[in-house]
Amino acid sequence: MEFIDPNLIPARTLYTGAKMPAVGMGTFGSDHAAPEEVSAAVAGAIRVGYRHFDCAACYGNEAQIGEVFAEAFSEGEVRREELFIVSKVWNDMHGQGDVLLACAKTLKDLQLEALDMYYVHWPFPNYHPPKCDVSERNPDSRPFSTERFMTTWRQMERLVDMGLTRHIGMSNMTIPKLEAVLPLCRIKPAAIEMELHPCFQQQELFDYCREREIQVVGFCPLGSPDRPERDRTPEDIADIELPEIRRIAESHGIHPALVCIKWAVQRGQTPIPFSVKERNYTANLKCVTEDPLTSEEMEVIGGLERDNRLVKGQVFLWPGAGDWRDLWDLKGTIAGAG
Ligand SMILES: NC(=O)c1ccc[n+]([C@@H]2O[C@H](COP(=O)([O-])OP(=O)(O)OC[C@H]3O[C@@H](n4cnc5c(N)ncnc54)[C@H](OP(=O)(O)O)[C@@H]3O)[C@@H](O)[C@H]2O)c1
Repeated sequence: MEFIDPNLIPARTLYTGAKMPAVGMGTFGSDHAAPEEVSAAVAGAIRVGYRHFDCAACYGNEAQIGEVFAEAFSEGEVRREELFIVSKVWNDMHGQGDVLLACAKTLKDLQLEALDMYYVHWPFPNYHPPKCDVSERNPDSRPFSTERFMTTWRQMERLVDMGLTRHIGMSNMTIPKLEAVLPLCRIKPAAIEMELHPCFQQQELFDYCREREIQVVGFCPLGSPDRPERDRTPEDIADIELPEIRRIAESHGIHPALVCIKWAVQRGQTPIPFSVKERNYTANLKCVTEDPLTSEEMEVIGGLERDNRLVKGQVFLWPGAGDWRDLWDLKGTIAGAG
């Protein structure tokens, strides 16, 4: 097993001054990697030099990952303060009083006293069961409401006050939603997690966050080749199969996946690639320590934007909604808000 010195991995500075490693490891098994398989990969990743882990209650594996963290600390492999550990409150725990309970459960499962970052996973209280298919709809689903979101966010802020998380963040947001909630935040989000890969660069949202000192964390950085069936449509483009990406990969003698990771880190976001294979997760971390992309290559990849959102979120639609585009406020106003 190779060890990549964590000091060689670029770090992002949050507005608090805290550092966040610019590559993290994803832990969503896309409904097919079992919790034990993911936690074994986390154990291997700590040994390889990963120091940032993107967890979530809804991934159904925090208890197994918590065992791995506890063992790594007790064996002296790594100290708690060397890791940047993230989790997310799931959509069925947004209500008054629920966020503290959700965070407590996550802390118990991960065997931690506090998190480094706690995100609101989705900005709606709309729940879908694990492993559901694309046609699943919950009749209780509702559109975004600033008031409801702030009920959740006020509880997130209290978690910071209580020392249960050092930072709070949001995920799957849009500019109209941020415009509505940011002025109301007592504690502003330190990071926003969003889908980002060469065919889906969200340049406007990316710039919006950076202008406000909010770090951008990118999920599905490789185009999530093994994503669940519910997140696949025939029009989707496979980033790692694009001729431009393959050509750049060939000229560096690397897998196209690594081109996506190098691009992400050099552009300024923090990718959180997932893998259960030691060879892959090692390469995903190591690639940012050597042989950077040239500015011409960065420009070529910058030109690959295809507006190809993969995680469209159909399962979160509310009764009366149009199609998945309503979740993303494409008309510039918050769809369904009343
Ligand atoms: N906030 C949100 O709503 C949200 C949504 C989606 C995802 N996420 C987070 O983002 C993370 C990453 O997204 P993702 O898991 O969907 O997709 P991803 O990281 O883009 O792709 C993961 C897939 O790529 C393969 N892979 C990884 N490294 C590779 C390499 N070097 N060469 C070839 N193949 C490679 C993996 O297969 P192997 O295991 O076989 O290597 C895995 O199937 C998730 O795990 C999760 O933590 C957050």
